[in-house]
Amino acid sequence: MRALTVYSTRGGNGKTLTALFLGIAAVKRGLKTVVIDADFEAPSLTHLLSNQTKELTWVDYLENDNIDITDLINPNIIGNLDIIFSPPPRIGKNFLGWKADNWWKKALQKAIVAKKELELLGYDLVIIDNQSGTSYNSVNNMVFSEISIMVLRPSNYGLGATESILKEIFNTLKGMNRRMDYYLWNQVHRVSDQDERLLLDQFLEKWDDRLTALGLKKLGSVEYNIKLNLELLNDNPDLNDQFNLIKDNYNNLMDTILNF
Ligand SMILES: Nc1ncnc2c1ncn2[C@@H]1O[C@H](COP(=O)(O)OP(=O)(O)O)[C@@H](O)[C@H]1O
Ligand SMILES: [Mg+2]
Repeated sequence: MRALTVYSTRGGNGKTLTALFLGIAAVKRGLKTVVIDADFEAPSLTHLLSNQTKELTWVDYLENDNIDITDLINPNIIGNLDIIFSPPPRIGKNFLGWKADNWWKKALQKAIVAKKELELLGYDLVIIDNQSGTSYNSVNNMVFSEISIMVLRPSNYGLGATESILKEIFNTLKGMNRRMDYYLWNQVHRVSDQDERLLLDQFLEKWDDRLTALGLKKLGSVEYNIKLNLELLNDNPDLNDQFNLIKDNYNNLMDTILNF
């Protein structure tokens, strides 16, 4: 079994979409796969997928000792893809100090137990839709997963911060396990002439150098797809249809990931 987490330092880069589409690509090639929504600040799988049947969530599992993991798994939510949801986010006065430090230590231990259980259930792949920014939660999910994908947009806003946060995180993780940390350009502009191509390529090459210097490997790049973006505005988007708009891209990414 492989565990991978999809991460970014800011919201909106495309973590959730990447996690879901990689999940769909995986089940389409016969891998038994579960996607865990572990973004406690902005859980969004519930908005995209309306067929949640299990009341128990990932948070319930992490903080209780007597829950059977199968009671969290919503089977066949898109095709053969299974999903574990998270509860709606806490807002108001509890938002910042949501859980004590000790809670997160126990949560990591429980997550490792979950990983064993999922492996026993025959899963080939676990995909964690991670929380943006630095938090105990996001770092726990990085430790849980031996593969991470950092989703980035070609924009001057946010990449510098990403670089410094990554330095910290990878210093902590270094030497813990054999791991593979990728970055993925997402929502890449579709250019219409040579000048635009040059601007984009210069930007991407500059950051490719800086990110590979941190030890990240380039996973690939996904264009900004207007049709996909518009169709996701539907109340009940058909994710299988949308996957088909862009499936070659995700199939290629999956090939690279499975080669690790
Ligand atoms: N390659 C893409 N093309 C078009 N729209 C995209 C693409 N990737 C993400 N989006 C859109 O960007 C928004 C944020 O994506 P999402 O996956 O929710 O980000 P995150 O989970 O990182 O906050 C969504 O509206 C999604 O539809
Ligand atoms: Mg998200």
